[in-house]
Amino acid sequence: MITLGVIGAGYWGPNLVRNFVNLPGARVTRVSDLSRERLQHMEKLYPYLETTQDYRVLIEDPGIDAVVIATPVTSHAKLAGEALAAGKHVFVEKPLSNSSEASLQLVKLAREKNLVGMVGHTFIYSPAVLKIKELLDSGELGEVYYISTTRVNLGLFQDDINVVWDLAPHDLSIFAFLLDAEPERVQGVGHSYIQPGIEDVAFLTYGFPGGRLANIHVSWLDPNKIRRTTVVGSKKMLVYDDTSNVEKIRVYDKGVDVHRHYDTFGEFQLAYRFGDIHIPKLDDGEPLKVETAHFLDCIRQGTHCRSGLEHGHQVVCALEAGCTSMREGGRSVEIEYNLSRAF
Ligand SMILES: NC(=O)c1ccc[n+]([C@@H]2O[C@H](COP(=O)([O-])OP(=O)(O)OC[C@H]3O[C@@H](n4cnc5c(N)ncnc54)[C@H](O)[C@@H]3O)[C@@H](O)[C@H]2O)c1
Repeated sequence: MITLGVIGAGYWGPNLVRNFVNLPGARVTRVSDLSRERLQHMEKLYPYLETTQDYRVLIEDPGIDAVVIATPVTSHAKLAGEALAAGKHVFVEKPLSNSSEASLQLVKLAREKNLVGMVGHTFIYSPAVLKIKELLDSGELGEVYYISTTRVNLGLFQDDINVVWDLAPHDLSIFAFLLDAEPERVQGVGHSYIQPGIEDVAFLTYGFPGGRLANIHVSWLDPNKIRRTTVVGSKKMLVYDDTSNVEKIRVYDKGVDVHRHYDTFGEFQLAYRFGDIHIPKLDDGEPLKVETAHFLDCIRQGTHCRSGLEHGHQVVCALEAGCTSMREGGRSVEIEYNLSRAF
């Protein structure tokens, strides 16, 4: 039996509590939130829970094996650091931290203490992203040329982080998972139209090894909610629409073939292919259930953590570099991970 305590019962924390309490071999005994009202809400849902406004009660409880953190991003590193120092496994919501130096220290601490650390990068546990990974690994799309993603809606404006830190962690985690690689550099532009100094729209382009590109458009200022990713491969192309209920992924047998053998420019020819569209069937299931179960497996069986602290740190580095580029006129910024400093 793994006993968990959850810090943060705002919008997202209750989803984590619901999933952990429903998993066999796990129980949640304590929940902490600064808001008395949120704690009362949790007491109504789970009368057996002990609640506290002081997160330290949970971290110091010797009966708790793992601490789940679903508080605002700026508090993640402090809370996770204290939990790891107290010998607890940690599950931290995304992004791991708002600073790459702080996220690196978490990687180091978890290693030194031999504890499991996982980041809530939920999308890489979703049936749609797993299906795309399967299609890429099978070679069906050929070699990936580029990925382009749009994650926009109206609001919710945050006051402690910009739109990149709010929305782009999902895309960066998905890219690294799909491409089995980390981005090497980034160029970005963005602007703060509503709140001074807090960008509400951004366009970031990441360069991956092998010339692969991945572009992210994130915005809190868009009339429509769009969650669309396009993967362009040398053989096929794919569009993933996360807002669609029935046809999330469409695989297009479209492409362009170049006839390689030509002597004159006049013989240089492109052949366009317009083939079938395939809509793969996706497994049912809540990504969060798979994600929370994976965290328990990592603790129990030492399973390699798909979204471990290193993955979370790499996402933080890519976000930070994107914001640096955005604030320095879109210059190309090399992304440093410095993971050797954590070993
Ligand atoms: N994985 C996902 O798809 C997903 C979705 C939504 C949010 N999130 C992440 O979840 C985290 C929380 O987001 P949210 O939307 O629930 O925010 P929220 O503001 O609704 O809730 C955060 C809660 O944390 C509490 N809190 C803050 N500091 C605390 C402290 N020191 N001790 C105890 N409680 C404290 C606040 O009182 C608040 O109730 C963020 O990191 C966010 O990025 C992840």
